[in-house]
Amino acid sequence: MCYVYMRIFSGIQPTNILHLGNYLGAIQNWVRLQETHEALYCIVDLHAITVRQKPEELAQNTRRVAELYLACGLDPERVTIFVQSHVREHTELAWILNTVTKMGELERMTQFKDKATQHSENINAGLFTYPVLMAADILLYGTEGVPVGDDQKQHVELARNIAERFNKWFGETLVIPKPLIQEEGARIMGLDDPTKKMSKSAPTPNNYIALTDDAETVRSKLKRAVTDSGTEIVSGATKPALTNLLTIYALLRNTTVKAAESHFEGKGYAAFKSELADTVVDFLMPLQERLKKIEANPKTIEKILKKGAKDAVKIAAATMEKVRERVGLLAI
Ligand code: TRP
Repeated sequence: MCYVYMRIFSGIQPTNILHLGNYLGAIQNWVRLQETHEALYCIVDLHAITVRQKPEELAQNTRRVAELYLACGLDPERVTIFVQSHVREHTELAWILNTVTKMGELERMTQFKDKATQHSENINAGLFTYPVLMAADILLYGTEGVPVGDDQKQHVELARNIAERFNKWFGETLVIPKPLIQEEGARIMGLDDPTKKMSKSAPTPNNYIALTDDAETVRSKLKRAVTDSGTEIVSGATKPALTNLLTIYALLRNTTVKAAESHFEGKGYAAFKSELADTVVDFLMPLQERLKKIEANPKTIEKILKKGAKDAVKIAAATMEKVRERVGLLAI
């Protein structure tokens, strides 16, 4: 076995309940990476407030995401789990990086264009500079690899460009990060619309399976999931719905989509969906058991988040000291 110990950083916004797409597209991979990497996994609450959040729900969701990180198998003994707003250096570096980022670069970000359309009543400056805060998250920790879904690749590339420009202007300071894109499962699609990513902000909950859905809800959502025309259980470009469902099956069973196709050869949609539902339920039930135990003990999660923030600050503060000096901010 080859140990790499590359430093990696990733984060999820505490905007709502986590779903199977978050798990299969990100967290499952993070759990694997914790074995061979020095990982920091963040709950990015400052990113969440770029769209309106109910204050009383935001704090609750932040805690819930932390609990789900643990229930999914992230091990606080091996990785640093923390809340973005607990490490003040994120906003400080973001401000400095704002002055190294071009308006045109931010205008080209597809997520900004999408969100500005979705939230046309609240196109705030934070939504526009969101990728700069994300660059700060990454660059504060000397991050080498950023495990993200392919929708975030553009943001990581911007972080690279910002770091390179900073280094050119002020001298070698920041580590240039690389996106680590997972091949299969990087994008789990909506159950009701396989052309769009599974999303907690979709118009109907039939779009996603929440990690906290009970068995009955899972079965009913999968029964309702759209399929493609034809009768065979096969993947492919003309079968977006089946490809998505087969991918979910394969990832949860630790097998390949090809192997799943042969397993379902000669079987119908009903049999496929019912076996898929069993697979999802078998995965979720133990996870929810773990979650219940974690929730029953709120002090534990608070301790983990405090320790995470303390460890993160150590790295972040050292980076900021260098950055301040390079930029020429007066030290006293
Ligand atoms: N923008 C990411 C998303 O919406 C979340 C995020 C914020 C992130 N900061 C990050 C991901 C740093 C990776 C690294 O999914």
